[in-house]
Amino acid sequence: MTVERRNQGRFEFFDLKPKAADMREEVLAGLGASPKTLSPKYFYDETGSELFERITRLPEYYLTRTEMALFDAYLEQIAAALGDGVCLVEYGAGATLKIRKLLERLRPAAYVPVDISGDHLEAQSRELHADFPWLDVFPTCADFTAPFPLPEPVTGLPIVGFFPGSSIGNFDPAGAERFLRNVHQTLGPRGRLLVGIDRRKDPAVIEAAYNDAQGVTAAFNLNALEHINARLGADFDVGGFRHEARYDAELGCLQMFLRSTRAQTVHIGGVAIDFAADERIHTENSFKYHPEEFEALAGRGGFGVDTWWTDEAARFALFLLRGR
Ligand code: AVJ
Repeated sequence: MTVERRNQGRFEFFDLKPKAADMREEVLAGLGASPKTLSPKYFYDETGSELFERITRLPEYYLTRTEMALFDAYLEQIAAALGDGVCLVEYGAGATLKIRKLLERLRPAAYVPVDISGDHLEAQSRELHADFPWLDVFPTCADFTAPFPLPEPVTGLPIVGFFPGSSIGNFDPAGAERFLRNVHQTLGPRGRLLVGIDRRKDPAVIEAAYNDAQGVTAAFNLNALEHINARLGADFDVGGFRHEARYDAELGCLQMFLRSTRAQTVHIGGVAIDFAADERIHTENSFKYHPEEFEALAGRGGFGVDTWWTDEAARFALFLLRGR
């Protein structure tokens, strides 16, 4: 008699207890610097996450749609390249559409979603486990920008990291290289990484994606100020700031700013911050890469390129990297 061994997958939550950042201290440091900056992580409160979901469906925002189309078109090739019995380690636990597609086709041995926000991670992974009951799901609460130990049950499995969406574009190239070194350390010397890259292209196409006609990206950018008001009791007049997104073709970077429309003073928990008229807060970098540029970057981060896939319009690329 044969026994079906994969009918009930395990679920275990691994809490590596990442230390929580001091938001007040970080925000004050960024706004006290020159030029003023805010980390893009402040976009993502509940409203911001909803606005980002809307961005991914905008006609101008080609990134999500194109990456999804690559998964549809090349799912067989991707699955064949990854092979059987792997452990998928997802960097970040946001929208689950892409991973669901991959899990369904690949039927990996285990799935390890990693996120710094434990509650969100637990809720998402339980939902996913309910829909993929045969799968071993080991959510891991950790700061994935640093190396971390993988859950004990997956040691010995072939490891494949997954970092979609061109999220790696939020790092500058030096930061991305450092990040890849850390990924390399986490996944092991032969670990692989499937990563989504937004390609360099006509600046008009890129600028349109971050200056949509409906103003959703503007609302998303401005929401960082609402978030800071709510969480830190600050008094930003959101109407006194304007969304700005510009592509620096030399850098290969789309930069977002919030520009103060007048001279004004904002208070954050007793600290006053002065803005000159037209002064900007830099809120996000989104780096774009030529394929050969990214290959060189990956090399400096300890990875070689196994294969890569791209779309007809050469907008987006999925790279499968391998530790070397
Ligand atoms: C989530 C970082 C990939 O850079 O395109 C979308 C975020 N910002 N519109 C990007 C974003 C403005 C997005 N990433």
